[in-house]
Amino acid sequence: MKNFQSNQLSPKEIYKILSATVIPRPIAWITTKSREGNVNVAPFSFFNIVSSEPAIISIAFQDMKDTALNILETGEAVVHLVNLENVEEMNRTAAKLSKNVSEALEFEIELEKSQMIDTPSIKNSKIRFETKLYKHHEVGEKSHLFLLEIVNFCLEDDLIDEESFHIAVDKMGAVARLEGNHYAKLGETFEIERPE
Ligand SMILES: Cc1cc2nc3c(=O)[nH]c(=O)nc-3n(C[C@H](O)[C@H](O)[C@H](O)COP(=O)(O)O)c2cc1C
Repeated sequence: MKNFQSNQLSPKEIYKILSATVIPRPIAWITTKSREGNVNVAPFSFFNIVSSEPAIISIAFQDMKDTALNILETGEAVVHLVNLENVEEMNRTAAKLSKNVSEALEFEIELEKSQMIDTPSIKNSKIRFETKLYKHHEVGEKSHLFLLEIVNFCLEDDLIDEESFHIAVDKMGAVARLEGNHYAKLGETFEIERPE
């Protein structure tokens, strides 16, 4: 094994190891609104589930991005899961634009009203979580961890069976982020019986 003590690595080297080894990562495609009403759209893959009681997800920002600023301003965000149909559109919204320029307008991303919060949702998405800010922690000097509470789950009709809550994973077209510009779709899956 090759060993690298983190206190002897640069932040860039640490990022390179982490982002290429903790894979595949889901992508949160997030809409937020600024105080002035501009709708921001951007993707984030430092994203995961934290708790189901209450329903909490985490997003980590490598520095104070416009999305993070907007969440602090309004206390809201809509997190959309990225799929094969919107992955190209998602990628365009990673462009660096100034805070007062809306990616939704710039890249003609069609929005629609959300159910429980004021921030609009992206129409071209199958799974959306309408969220409110639960907690924000600064991590080190630059990074920010946001815990978001899901107040409404919005899933495309044919993705969920309302009786069993079974999700049709094969219909999701799930896309994951690998390192850099590389992405993955679901390949062959398999099942393993869990011990008692
Ligand atoms: C697939 C993908 C995943 C990304 N994940 C993150 C992330 O987890 N954290 C982060 O700070 N930036 C991430 N970025 C970069 C942001 O999307 C980018 O900085 C964007 O311009 C931020 O937009 P905003 O300033 O409007 O919020 C990612 C970019 C892409 C394409």
